[in-house]
Amino acid sequence: MKVVEASPRPLVVEDLRVRYGGVVAVDGVSFSIEPGRCLGIIGANGAGKTSTLKAVMGLVSRSCSAMMLGDVDLAKVRSRDVVRHGIGYVPEGRHVFGGLTVQSNLELGAYSQRRVDPARLEEVYTLFPVLAEMRTRLAGALSGGQQQMLAIGRALMSGPDLLILDEPSMGLSPKLVGQVLESLLALRERGLSILLVEQNAWLTFEATERCLVMENGTVALEGESSQLRHDPRVRRIYLGL
Ligand SMILES: Nc1ncnc2c1ncn2[C@@H]1O[C@H](COP(=O)(O)OP(=O)(O)O)[C@@H](O)[C@H]1O
Ligand SMILES: [Mg+2]
Repeated sequence: MKVVEASPRPLVVEDLRVRYGGVVAVDGVSFSIEPGRCLGIIGANGAGKTSTLKAVMGLVSRSCSAMMLGDVDLAKVRSRDVVRHGIGYVPEGRHVFGGLTVQSNLELGAYSQRRVDPARLEEVYTLFPVLAEMRTRLAGALSGGQQQMLAIGRALMSGPDLLILDEPSMGLSPKLVGQVLESLLALRERGLSILLVEQNAWLTFEATERCLVMENGTVALEGESSQLRHDPRVRRIYLGL
């Protein structure tokens, strides 16, 4: 069994809305990700990126006209079952268990399966050799970049078709951001679908094929990453001009 294999199931999200009391965080966002494709969502702090991801994971109450993973209606799936349906989630801020070993952290990522698949564990170690070298070390002793690899590796342990990442570059040096990019490209190569949320536009344009630019809970701009990279409107939206 492989950690990642091409999914025949697209993710389709239509007219997504999230509000927190009187605050409208996501205001009618639509996007889709075809199997094996990589979509980026960039935008300034507070644009609604995290809320969009949490809505897909069922972690916040939301409304939408459609939220489907293949023929699975995610709007009806309890948040604790979303992982079992094939979505891996790397939340903002990593949240590895610092007092547990690297290997225990990875094994915990397989909680939605009934047991840890040794082949899957070995494949994560192949993807991230640094984790293999440190498998018996406490996760708290790892550098920020290594902890980010661990958080990604842990999400892969459930054998997802789609990997969702929330600002994996946050707090990392440019060199480590480069390492995150390498690992995302390696996952793409293996046919995993990816939804990448970032404030780092450079990383997102390098890692993805298509991209949404969010502003105030809406999609302000959308297109191919290679084109958006040169679009002066991206800068304007970021700077809030
Ligand atoms: N739990 C919450 N309660 C109230 N408002 C929230 C909560 N989480 C986020 N918000 C607000 O929703 C908006 C979008 O936040 P968020 O989705 O975290 O944006 P981003 O990830 O793009 O920075 C912001 O105005 C933020 O202050
Ligand atoms: Mg966020």
